[in-house]
Amino acid sequence: VNHLLGIKYLNKKDIELIFETADHFKEVINRPIKKVPSLRDITIANLFFENSTRTKLSFELAEKRLSADVINFSASQSSVKKGETLIDTVNNILSMKVDMVVMRHPNPGASVFLSQHVDASIINAGDGAHEHPTQALLDSYSIRERLGEVKGKNVVIVGDILHSRVALSNIYALKLQGANVMVCGPKTLIPKHIDKLGVIVETNLRKALNWCDVANMLRVQNERMEISYFPSTREYTQQFGVNKALLDSLEKKITIMHPGPINRGVEITSDVADSNQAIILDQVQNGVAIRMAVIYLLASKIKP
Ligand code: CP
Repeated sequence: VNHLLGIKYLNKKDIELIFETADHFKEVINRPIKKVPSLRDITIANLFFENSTRTKLSFELAEKRLSADVINFSASQSSVKKGETLIDTVNNILSMKVDMVVMRHPNPGASVFLSQHVDASIINAGDGAHEHPTQALLDSYSIRERLGEVKGKNVVIVGDILHSRVALSNIYALKLQGANVMVCGPKTLIPKHIDKLGVIVETNLRKALNWCDVANMLRVQNERMEISYFPSTREYTQQFGVNKALLDSLEKKITIMHPGPINRGVEITSDVADSNQAIILDQVQNGVAIRMAVIYLLASKIKP
């Protein structure tokens, strides 16, 4: 059975194939008739054990654009609340003849665990602070769209690296494609030994921004913190927030990315988020084409 559990399990050629396939679907979803009949005989379950806006809606839209049958499951309204286990939940759903499962879960490794215990194709839509592979794919795809290619570009990931599945998946994806990767944030929010992944570590935001072509600004994930890793939000913003004055004072015009949701006024101000240097909504738009590509490529291996 084929899965997308993390970027860690992909190679450069896999990413190139996903991007070529996404190019085709991007063209399709800009047509007046946005649907293709490719997955008419496939049923997909979207299982969300954690909140989501972008990932949940764009997976559902991608599946519908491919003409798959779709069922949605939200843990908060389900029998998980009565104590049903993850494997029982998924096996019950699969017994209804479901072919593919998209899952977001708060526990790191939940998708890998599921792939070892159930007979279906699994797509990881974010597992705790571990990986968020489709986010990293849409991020690289958006860099490629804005700057022509990912190879050789200087990309800094700014903020709460420690709790971020977006950071880890982006590091794997960017390195595979030959980008130079830096992480920047407070020392307490940068994992020890992250340099072993071949990334540069910088704690001075101005230096990081002057080095980069692209800055991917992360949200501080207060919901994943057991203790406070930084004195205050105000202090975080003073040292690691990007505002228009800082952006305009840099040596060159850089591209600003954000996976969403944004804490406006914390990691970036509104005049940065809404400026033409930001590609935040392009990232969201590309998410549909990337997810169509991933689902299509996996489904092509399970279809009769
Ligand atoms: N980027 C992202 O994963 O956003 P959601 O949590 O809204 O899906």
